Amino acid sequence: MSYETSSQDLPPVTDWVNDWDWLDDQWGANAIEIWNSVREQTPVATTERYGRAHMPVTMAAVSEVAHDTEHFSSVFVSVARPDAPRTPAPPITSDPPDHKEHRRLLLPSFSPKAIAPMEQNLRDFCRALIADLDGLDRADAAEQYVQHIPVHGICELLGVPESDADMFRDWIFRNFQLAPRDNAVRIQVQQEMDAYLGQQLDVRVDSPQDDLMSLIANAEIDGEPVSRELKLGYAKLMIIAGIDTTWSAIGSGLWHFAQHPDEVAKLVAADNDHMIWTTATEEVLRYYAPVTMGRKVIADTEVAGCPVRHGEQTLVTFPAANHDPEAFENADQFQIERGRNRHVAFGLGIHRCLGSNLARLELVVATQEWLRAFPDYRLDPDRETTWANGQVRGPRSIPVLLNR
Ligand code: HEM
Repeated sequence: MSYETSSQDLPPVTDWVNDWDWLDDQWGANAIEIWNSVREQTPVATTERYGRAHMPVTMAAVSEVAHDTEHFSSVFVSVARPDAPRTPAPPITSDPPDHKEHRRLLLPSFSPKAIAPMEQNLRDFCRALIADLDGLDRADAAEQYVQHIPVHGICELLGVPESDADMFRDWIFRNFQLAPRDNAVRIQVQQEMDAYLGQQLDVRVDSPQDDLMSLIANAEIDGEPVSRELKLGYAKLMIIAGIDTTWSAIGSGLWHFAQHPDEVAKLVAADNDHMIWTTATEEVLRYYAPVTMGRKVIADTEVAGCPVRHGEQTLVTFPAANHDPEAFENADQFQIERGRNRHVAFGLGIHRCLGSNLARLELVVATQEWLRAFPDYRLDPDRETTWANGQVRGPRSIPVLLNR
């Protein structure tokens, strides 16, 4: 199979152990069943669709890859055509030793102290979206509610205008759903992002504001200004990492709860700061973890006994690890009061998610506001939920009956 084939020409996957494809149409809605079935056969599946690439599905195998920066590089964090152009977006695309400095630069902007004060603003924003649904009997919970919330969060933090949200979502769609198989799309998206974010940075060099974009525009490491290419990389990463990730997690939760009125009743009966909201949020993150990363193999090694060779690629399938029965009791059950829940939705090792405080806040606030406003909502039996495939998996359309 040539990786030059366009996505339309690739046949549907029939063998997930030897020919997996994260852009196959079955991935979005069925990934959990796919990983569970692969895990019964092997800890690591392979494919030739992107050159030779691997897919670990156990917690042990995923953890091995995530912690081993000597054999697995983050220079490219997607599994894509092997000749895909690489552009830096540190810290996610950097390896030791320089990863540390990039991460240190951004870390204070994502600390609990920096994020917690955003709560009231996020809550007000969610309530305004809900007010816009006034008088409706049916809605699309993804399109009319969820997708707007993480964009609002990132715009507040970065200082970019929310009126450009459609453009950000379009970049994200093309970057994740089309670019892994099409280099021209990847280059075009990068150019559009560079042009837009370059302007945003330029304005802030001369007149810094109280936002993360200004910190990036004037960034220094060891007293030396950071290069323009890397500054653009930081800014692009904020857009690419901070929007559809959380949008997917919130959407998956609302899709799940629409089918579990007993769980909704328990949550709605509890105060917002009750422990059940924390355990339910963590269980949504475990069960519906949206983010699968990639690594480039830079030296021959083995993963769970399976050989991987220099130049090949591998997924870091964090969501599959979250369903490994070796790592979680009753892994296939969604338990809103799960006690011990050491999920890896936010990754493992040095690249563990920088935005996890923001993501958790958005997830809990958005879910609380929705369930309190529509405690009897249900999936609309006449319309289909649609799912995004690939690196960030989650529902993109959730038709619901509001039942008020
Ligand atoms: C539910 C939502 C989210 C999930 C599931 C998630 C997941 C992840 C995962 C799995 C990684 C590890 C990457 C790797 O190992 O290569 C990561 C890294 C990262 N995430 Fe998130 N993320 C979420 C939301 C966010 C948000 C809101 C931001 C804010 C901009 C963000 C920013 C980052 C950054 C900057 C990194 C790179 C950290 C490093 O390389 O040191 N993420 N995320």
